[in-house]
Amino acid sequence: MHTLAAPVREVDDEVRQLVRDMAETMYAAPGIGLAATQVNVHRRVIVIDISETRDELLVLINPEIVAAEGLQECEEGCLSVPGVYEKVDRAAKVKVRALGAEGKPFELDAEGLLAVCIQHEIDHLEGKVFVEYLSRLKQTRIRARMQKQSRRAAAAA
Ligand code: NI
Repeated sequence: MHTLAAPVREVDDEVRQLVRDMAETMYAAPGIGLAATQVNVHRRVIVIDISETRDELLVLINPEIVAAEGLQECEEGCLSVPGVYEKVDRAAKVKVRALGAEGKPFELDAEGLLAVCIQHEIDHLEGKVFVEYLSRLKQTRIRARMQKQSRRAAAAA
């Protein structure tokens, strides 16, 4: 979870398959975003869908935030930290540059939830999870709760 993801050199069949698998995992969870890091593939690939209809897949390969402005506080959750929802400060607007699912470069201006999601997922690629923005005390509590959960899961398995 704390490994730095490597850039994708070429959007080939393997990368396209990774994108399909990640989208499937995200929709099944269900979640609104997933970074390759979370499926233990350390490459710079993100999938996002914040639509209510769940049919607007956004694929960001080698994403890079080239401009950010403003501040917003949003309650975040993460498929890698189940059951934890906490408020985090993020830039209100971001401009992101990336390659799409077919390898074409594009730029996207995002705000609101989409901007939060992009920042959250790019953090995963940098080996960072949103709970690391929280106070020490909160992080300690979350860790204790997660250890208890994994002990329970081990007992059940
Ligand atoms: Ni996450």
